[in-house]
Formats: sequence, structure tokens, C-alpha cells
Amino acid sequence: MYYLLYASTAVERMNDEQLESILEVYRCNNAAVNVSGMLLYDDGSFIQFIEGEKSDVIDLFERIAEDSRHFGVFVLDQGEADQRCLPDWKMGYSRLSKDTSYAYSSGRGQRRQPDAGNGNPEKGRA
Ligand SMILES: Cc1cc2nc3c(=O)[nH]c(=O)nc-3n(C[C@H](O)[C@H](O)[C@H](O)COP(=O)(O)O)c2cc1C
Repeated sequence: MYYLLYASTAVERMNDEQLESILEVYRCNNAAVNVSGMLLYDDGSFIQFIEGEKSDVIDLFERIAEDSRHFGVFVLDQGEADQRCLPDWKMGYSRLSKDTSYAYSSGRGQRRQPDAGNGNPEKGRA
């Protein structure tokens, strides 16, 4: 099992609806190669965590890094792991705001209300 965490900057600000609609496509892509993870977005900045077989994670990251919708892609951490951190998340999504309230969805079909996790993604998990 391999994981990779990166940060980047969006070329254009995106709203929740725009991100959720493109995430639906990513979730299908990720499920097809058994990659799970989480995308965080705040004020034009992305942080994404992806995990799966090493070749799948590297392939996906190379595609993501070349995507013209963001720039300044910077790997924060990567490495081998014994097991997945987010096995059920095809690509969770969280929008972070300054007061730490947020809405997120796990990619498993349900959508959480803002503050469902009271600031803690683990608390909001089903
Ligand atoms: C911030 C960000 C995160 C992305 N995350 C994913 C992802 O998790 N899975 C995915 O398939 N594509 C993701 N993409 C889209 C890829 O960059 C790429 O457009 C998509 O995989 C289709 O690639 P292809 O045109 O080479 O088939 C992301 C793009 C951006 C800007």
C-alpha cells in the first residue's frame, strides 16, 4: 500500500457545486483502480491525500500534477503504509472555512450537513 499527500493552488476559485460535480467523475476513476482518499479545499488551496497500490497512486498523481486547473503542486509526504487510512472513501471532500465549520461528503453516497463532524472529520464519519 502506498500513500501520497500534496498541496496545490487552484487557477480559479471553485464553489461546492463545481467541486462536487467533478468529484463524481474522480470517484468513478478512483474506484476503478481501487484508490481511496480525501480532497480538502479552502480559499483556492487544495490538499489531497491518495492511497492504493503504488503504481496506481503514482499514475494518478502524475495525471493530477499535469492538470491545468491548479498549479504549484507540492508533495508534502509520500511512502509505504501497512494499511489504508480511508478504505471506504473513493474520494472524500471537505471544504474548510475560517471558523472550522465545513460540509463534507465521503463519496459513499451520503452528504453531510455543515458541522456534522463538529470540526473533526472522524466524528462525522458514518
Ligand atoms: C485538485 C485536483 C484533484 C484531482 N483529483 C483526482 C482524483 O482523485 N482522481 C481522478 O481520477 N482525477 C483527479 N483529478 C483530475 C485529473 O487531474 C485528470 O483530469 C483526470 O484524472 C482525467 O485524466 P485524463 O484526462 O488523463 O484521463 C484531479 C484534478 C485536480 C485539479
